[in-house]
Amino acid sequence: MDNYRIKGGNVLSGTVKVSGAKNAALPIIAASVMTRGESVLSSCPEISDVDSMLKILKALGCRIKNAGETISIVPDDMDRCMIPDELMKEMRSSVFLAGALLTRCGEAVISSPGGCDIGKRPIDIHIDGLEKLGASIMHTNDRLILRAGDMKGTDIHLPYPSVGATENIMMAALGAAGVTRIFNCAREPEIVDLQKYLNLCGAKIGGAGTGIITIKGKTPLRGSCHDILPDRIEAGTYLLMALGTGGKIRLSNINGILLGPLIDVLEAAGYIIEQGDSFIYAESAGNEKVKCSIVTEPYPGFPTDLQPQLTAFLVKNGAGSVIKENIFENRMDYAHQLKKMGADIEISQKEVIIKNNNILCGTHVKAKDLRGGAALMIAGLMAEGETIVGNTKYIKRGYSRIGEKIRGLGGEITENEG
Ligand code: UD1
Repeated sequence: MDNYRIKGGNVLSGTVKVSGAKNAALPIIAASVMTRGESVLSSCPEISDVDSMLKILKALGCRIKNAGETISIVPDDMDRCMIPDELMKEMRSSVFLAGALLTRCGEAVISSPGGCDIGKRPIDIHIDGLEKLGASIMHTNDRLILRAGDMKGTDIHLPYPSVGATENIMMAALGAAGVTRIFNCAREPEIVDLQKYLNLCGAKIGGAGTGIITIKGKTPLRGSCHDILPDRIEAGTYLLMALGTGGKIRLSNINGILLGPLIDVLEAAGYIIEQGDSFIYAESAGNEKVKCSIVTEPYPGFPTDLQPQLTAFLVKNGAGSVIKENIFENRMDYAHQLKKMGADIEISQKEVIIKNNNILCGTHVKAKDLRGGAALMIAGLMAEGETIVGNTKYIKRGYSRIGEKIRGLGGEITENEG
């Protein structure tokens, strides 16, 4: 089976350049189909989710040139609006194409999106929003057939600030006549980045990053050049990895504001953190005491996508801490794997309590989702002996060249493709 073999116990120190954000790149790549002419996206992370999204665009008829972190997309010859089922299942973000295709082609045919298994992930908020714009939606077999008809801008109040639904409705609203306002929308920085790209393409969108987004529909969109926002979750993962092994780290290409809730936890515990517009530096002061109580929340709260990695760090460094997952119903599988490594923790469906700090022992563990997989890698690096983390495919969905970056910090890791 594909796996990472990690030799624990090394101190990880040095500099890591943060890659572009997965959660910004995916909706922006989807959005590019709404334009005419070429979009050139730089700082795209080299991850399998981006590869899957590009495969979908190719299947729809887009021309793609992919040179490492720079991707050129020309959607001018796009002639299909049905996403092949096998590609749809590769990741959850394929659902973004519903809004983008409605605007581009007036029609979209999608099936159930795939993605990490972290609980039920319905798309009712997406669908309700598209229907409020006037799209008609038919369920046949396992497919959804969406037709734009005569979509008109309107006020949409989301029952929950879903990131994906906010982005999907933003894209569909570009194909609706008049003005759409999305209330109680998600405020994640990646949504601000989507707005930035679309406005460079000629869209008139305002308010991303606040609780109300306003979109003027039917403006012509032309391709543009855009540099993808850095990945705050990747940055937080390396920060915890280095501090967890007793090292010092400098993260370049990241603004500390994006990691506010994690930096607050570390600073409160006594870690030395310096930050500027495009770097974060962190090291131990030698006497920190981490005892925190964290609840995951939509931005600007503590991100659910850093919950597993923080827990792994706390297993060695944060006795008495309590971590509560408030966004996904089933995101604690990794914690059972940490227990296998000797973690003294109490686990319930949505909460982990760190009882005592103890030394972890390397063993065989399996990633069941992307961020849980990253948590197991942090644990393996902090553990005694060798840890084998199986199912690398989940980790590669969202971490660009992770083995290389860990080795660059002094970690010992090899990859077996199985
Ligand atoms: C995005 C991120 C993901 C992150 C999550 C929460 C991308 C590509 N992925 O996922 O990494 O973990 O935000 O920050 O940006 N929900 C519904 N109905 C819906 C939509 C969502 O009930 O129609 C629920 C979900 O099941 C979940 C919660 O709302 O419990 C949050 O989901 P959402 O914000 O939509 O996350 P994603 O966009 O899937």
